[in-house]
Amino acid sequence: MKHLLKLMDLTGDEILALLNLADQLKYERRHGIPHHRLTGKTLGMIFQKSSTRTRVSFEVGMYELGGTALFLSDKDLQIGRGEGVDDTARVLSRYLSGIMIRTFAQDDVEKLARYGSIPVINGLTDFAHPCQVLADLMTIREYKGALAGQTLCYIGDGNNMANSLIVGGLKAGMRVRVACPKGYEPAPEVLAFAQPYGDACLVTDDPALAARGADALYTDVWASMGQEGEREARAKAFAGYQVNMALLAAANPGCVVLHCLPAHKGEEISPDVFEAHAAEIFDQAENRLHVQKAVLLTVMG
Ligand code: CP
Ligand code: NVA
Repeated sequence: MKHLLKLMDLTGDEILALLNLADQLKYERRHGIPHHRLTGKTLGMIFQKSSTRTRVSFEVGMYELGGTALFLSDKDLQIGRGEGVDDTARVLSRYLSGIMIRTFAQDDVEKLARYGSIPVINGLTDFAHPCQVLADLMTIREYKGALAGQTLCYIGDGNNMANSLIVGGLKAGMRVRVACPKGYEPAPEVLAFAQPYGDACLVTDDPALAARGADALYTDVWASMGQEGEREARAKAFAGYQVNMALLAAANPGCVVLHCLPAHKGEEISPDVFEAHAAEIFDQAENRLHVQKAVLLTVMG
């Protein structure tokens, strides 16, 4: 594995190897066992969108692995004044050991990898959020003991999270059920990817149908970063797609509830469901740290 651009590029075995390494790193951190396996390495972290979890967990992760992380905001980089991703990639490759980037177009991440000569990690695009879904799979496995045969249900916008959950869930051997309003479905290439999986993947506009028999129930904001102007229209389109106690009743007993955060409580998730499942949701947030350290070691180690 050279880069982490999107989960479609990984095999199921590569995903499981990352989760196993993440479990090991989590154990070592809990027991105070140092793992300075990236001493002398520097990660550049380009942010063209806001972040709490991704920024802090990557920076702390590099520190705990013995390396250094540089926060590079597009407000400061020449990228923000129009310097191309191609030239930025070729310059940063001369200084850094790896790049993590959060941006809008998936194509920019692919270009960074193509023009640069160092590993590139996708820290979220409009199309995909692979680091988040690796943490999600890690969390589900912790709670359920396994991934294969479990049912993962996602309710809401067919956005970066939906795209990556479908791919990651299917590659991990899960059944995936997605409910989105008409016009807000996952990306066409993700639906095409899911096609050969047959009945293992269901995409519907019926939340109750999707939630039936779920072992993990997942949701995300209705308006993603960059879509703030559509908030009102989206609130209307997504009415009826809230993860609440009534919807949860259709899931399997012991169903875990996950949210990538930040959450808009009262919109995509009811406050009572959020608080009743806060332990899972904040374990999920913590697992970003462990799984990203596994990614860093795998591509930069
Ligand atoms: N879930 C997630 O990626 O959070 P941030 O936007 O805070 O990084
Ligand atoms: N779909 C959300 C995820 C945030 C982690 C967004 O892109 O804003």
